[in-house]
Amino acid sequence: MAQLWGGRFEGQTDAEVFAFNASIGFDIRLLDVDIEGSIAHAKMLGKQKIITREETDAIVKGLEEIRAEFLADDSKDAVRKAAGEYEDVHSFVEARLIEKIGDAGKKLHTGRSRNDQVALDMRLYTRKQITHMRSLLYRMLDTLHGRMKEHLRTVMPGFTHLQKAQPVTLAHHLGAYFEMFKRDEERCADIFLRINVCPLGSGALAGTTYPLDRDYVAKLLSFDAVCDNSMDGVSDRDYLIECLSALSLIQMHLSRFAEEIILWNSDEYRFVTIDDAYATGSSIMPQKKNPDVAELVRGKTGRVYGDLLSLLTTMKGLPLAYNKDMQEDKECAFDAFDTVAACLSLFTEMLKALTFHADVMAKSAARGFTNATDAADYLAGKGVPFRDAHEITGRVVLACIEKNRAIDDLTLEELKAFAPQFEEDVFEAVSLKNCVDRRLTHGAPGEEAVKKVIKAHERYLKELQVSVTQEESV
Ligand code: ARG
Repeated sequence: MAQLWGGRFEGQTDAEVFAFNASIGFDIRLLDVDIEGSIAHAKMLGKQKIITREETDAIVKGLEEIRAEFLADDSKDAVRKAAGEYEDVHSFVEARLIEKIGDAGKKLHTGRSRNDQVALDMRLYTRKQITHMRSLLYRMLDTLHGRMKEHLRTVMPGFTHLQKAQPVTLAHHLGAYFEMFKRDEERCADIFLRINVCPLGSGALAGTTYPLDRDYVAKLLSFDAVCDNSMDGVSDRDYLIECLSALSLIQMHLSRFAEEIILWNSDEYRFVTIDDAYATGSSIMPQKKNPDVAELVRGKTGRVYGDLLSLLTTMKGLPLAYNKDMQEDKECAFDAFDTVAACLSLFTEMLKALTFHADVMAKSAARGFTNATDAADYLAGKGVPFRDAHEITGRVVLACIEKNRAIDDLTLEELKAFAPQFEEDVFEAVSLKNCVDRRLTHGAPGEEAVKKVIKAHERYLKELQVSVTQEESV
């Protein structure tokens, strides 16, 4: 048990309390950003002449060594073990620094509190994670874009209520997911703006009497601004809740997609074949090839929602400013970032390797009266009011169901028995290809309409790629 706050205490902390209170088991992953923040703080203390230049240099050098030790494979385990003695990553780094450089190390915490330190660390960490998420979303969007271009003419049934509704194309269906993940990316970019505010200098809650240069620290750490209220600075976790909410939405989109892949991969649909690399077998049924990746992605959505709800509930009713409850922000945030990153990245790879069966999709679209609306529209085009056209076509469908035929299997005479307005050109009008090609309103599945949207996506993707590459290199 090694602590930063022995002075006021006469007795020892109960061993169980120490373990209960400690966060080092999970916040050790903040070591890198903790050191990054401390280096900026030390440089600022030096610049403001709060500590000497020699002290600054010694602190920076010591911190860099600790970081290297932690990253070096041979000492990683030893460092982790030593860390286990401490309450949290902040105490550990400070103690290790003092061990290394002596008294100068004791000056690092001048004008700083662990409360603003942890607030800073979490923002630095989250900032990296959100950028990583945007680059994973970019890969998903780029993959979708490629697969859309391959399937501009692959006709498939569009569903409502999981019943065949109207024909669409696979490009159009995949395009719906493109829109969802695009919004997810935009949400991440927007949240980034609120993450990117520097809390350091908030002190424990009430700022400090030292002449800190907060703007300088913010600049060193590439923040856009400093927070305007020190009490809020140490106790704001809104940005994390926003992240968990954005992650929940990504996961919700993934789980909808996963559900479709699971259905489409079933023997009843056979729209797709999942590559062997992304499926698993059964220990007893030799014939099985199960869509486990998609199912796990769907399943893990529950825990990401749980992470969001967990933090929302932790923050509810907390008085200002810092409370130890807030230490509970970490495990749910780490879990959500890890889970969504793994799901997003695996799902993208699975999608790249997925085989779509265009012939099965086209056959499926040809059954189930997906062209019934077009038959009604045809009659409306011949002057029958749409409501009557709907009624007539409904009767045609009923007759077809009885005879197990499709609308375009009927002869012209049979059709004319329902309405004299049916003529030879009806067959062309209700052909699947026509049904899709003529849907040309903006956002519709017609090839030309989809091509226009794809063109716009290309510009967006190019800009996104540049932005993600730039930010990842910061
Ligand atoms: N481990 C703590 C956390 O994660 C750091 C802040 C500790 N501050 C304090 N006043 N006990 O929130």
